[in-house]
Amino acid sequence: MKIFIDTAEIEEIRTAISWGVVDGVTTNPSLIKKAVDKRQGKVSMAEYIEEIVKITPGPVSLEVLGGTADEMVKQGKLLYKKFCPYGNVAIKIPVNPSLQENDSLQFDGLKATRHLSNEGIPVNATLIMAPEQALLAAKAGAAYASAFAGRIDDYIRIKMGLKLGTDFRKDSYFDAEPARKDYETKNVETRQDNGVWSGVDLVARILRIYQNYGFKTEVIAASIRNPRQAREVAELGIHIATLPFEVIQGMVTHVKTVEGMRSFTSDIVPPYRDLFSRE
Ligand code: E4P
Repeated sequence: MKIFIDTAEIEEIRTAISWGVVDGVTTNPSLIKKAVDKRQGKVSMAEYIEEIVKITPGPVSLEVLGGTADEMVKQGKLLYKKFCPYGNVAIKIPVNPSLQENDSLQFDGLKATRHLSNEGIPVNATLIMAPEQALLAAKAGAAYASAFAGRIDDYIRIKMGLKLGTDFRKDSYFDAEPARKDYETKNVETRQDNGVWSGVDLVARILRIYQNYGFKTEVIAASIRNPRQAREVAELGIHIATLPFEVIQGMVTHVKTVEGMRSFTSDIVPPYRDLFSRE
């Protein structure tokens, strides 16, 4: 499994790379703007992105601003041409750039994906919330399909009548199993999203579809909010998980590991310590 870091903060990227676990970076325009604004005019947006691409040992996903297929293709080519010389770049294209349902732009994300992919530019099809969108993204030639697990968990929880900030936090784990069991065993009507039970379930279904047909598109589990989600998508055999810095930090933490370290440290006998003081 590859791990991308889901941030535009260069210090977080550097630190996580120094841990030896980062294979790529995903960004979006608002994350980059926030990071550049913090530098108070000391660096331009182009210099900042260039730096991220230079230090990353794998693809950096850069997003277009959306709109028509022509605009997205133009922006995608521009971003690719500008930053590809410094490393490895993928272009993030929304799978459906419509701002409302059923408008004339619905298929422009797929159209732009096909166009850029035909020119050899790797596309990361983003904002994927349903397995059927992922199927179309793969058909259109996307190199990556980003499934937004956390946002689907939020969506289902809100449909269940729960309130973000009151009943659940953005980073709290959502266990869909009790609802699924009630539905299967007692036929209790419960909440889901058109047959998708959770963000992790969304990822599982996409992986199954891709395996059925041997698509080469790699699935990115995105919008991952906690270590348990990261573990569960790993158990599914996800190709890539894009993880915020805090989630990677959380993955290495366990109360018993800390306790173990404390007892090993206090148990160290002087002759053992001496082993390290002599050349
Ligand atoms: C990555 O491609 C996405 O921008 C990101 O994972 C979204 O995460 P969020 O739903 O926590 O904002």
